[in-house]
Amino acid sequence: MAATLIDGKAFAAKVRGQVAEHVARLKEEHGITPGLAVVLVGEDPASQVYVRSKGKSTVEVGMNSYEHKLDAETSEADLLALIGKLNSDPAVNGILVQLPLPKHMNEELVINSIAPEKDVDGFHISNVGLLGTGQKSMVPCTPLGCLMMLRDHHGSLSGMDAVVIGRSNIVGKPMAQLLLGDSCTVTIAHSRTKDLPEVVRRADIVVAAVGRPEMVPGDWIKEGATVIDVGINRIERGGKNVLVGDVDFASAAERAGAITPVPGGVGPMTIACLLANTVTAACRAHNLAEPEGLTA
Ligand code: GUN
Repeated sequence: MAATLIDGKAFAAKVRGQVAEHVARLKEEHGITPGLAVVLVGEDPASQVYVRSKGKSTVEVGMNSYEHKLDAETSEADLLALIGKLNSDPAVNGILVQLPLPKHMNEELVINSIAPEKDVDGFHISNVGLLGTGQKSMVPCTPLGCLMMLRDHHGSLSGMDAVVIGRSNIVGKPMAQLLLGDSCTVTIAHSRTKDLPEVVRRADIVVAAVGRPEMVPGDWIKEGATVIDVGINRIERGGKNVLVGDVDFASAAERAGAITPVPGGVGPMTIACLLANTVTAACRAHNLAEPEGLTA
């Protein structure tokens, strides 16, 4: 393997440490304990695991965690009423409604009912617009984590050619906006892109976020490029369940200059950035200086 491994697990631990330091300072100097409310509707097993992990990480950095578990038959009106209460609760600085929601709910309506300044997922239409126009916003956690790792590895990203594969609202589109904000030349590629291999071969930075196991082979990667693999796909290999990314790690690592592994790359950064966004939201709510290096 020629590439440098970008260790997301270690980097996420560092980010959580910075968040914990900032939380301790907020408590000591201002008597403020930031709080994150996580709302789970229904019993989706994967969502339950995520929500438990978010609550545990929140408490570990010294913040308050408020978990609201509603049953799958909860009406949309009741969910909106809960969000309304959390919006006006000064102890709650961040609100996260775990997705997907049950089919009888309008996800866009629910997300857009969260107060934008408490929208630590960065999914509210106001935050999407603020990010797109280069204004201060809450930034979606996974792309923020990718940006932090890229800045840490390269310093400046200015002038680099970046290709984002995938156009989702959660990763692809905000990732492209962030890279543009750091003065990359950005291409968003997707399933209809003509000659995807050639497009990817031009990239100094490749961010793969399509959710298709190992769809990017090593020979699409320019020699020395930085590869950020957002995919987390569970597949069966040799009779075992294994996690693989959207990039074929073994062949890509032969050509890349740096690459994130799966697991242990982007994944751990997502929760770390959720905590970072919550402390940022708490600072903004109290007109205090934001933590350095934890925002876009
Ligand atoms: N479900 C899967 N990923 C996410 C996420 O980043 N935020 C929320 N709210 N739900 C999710």
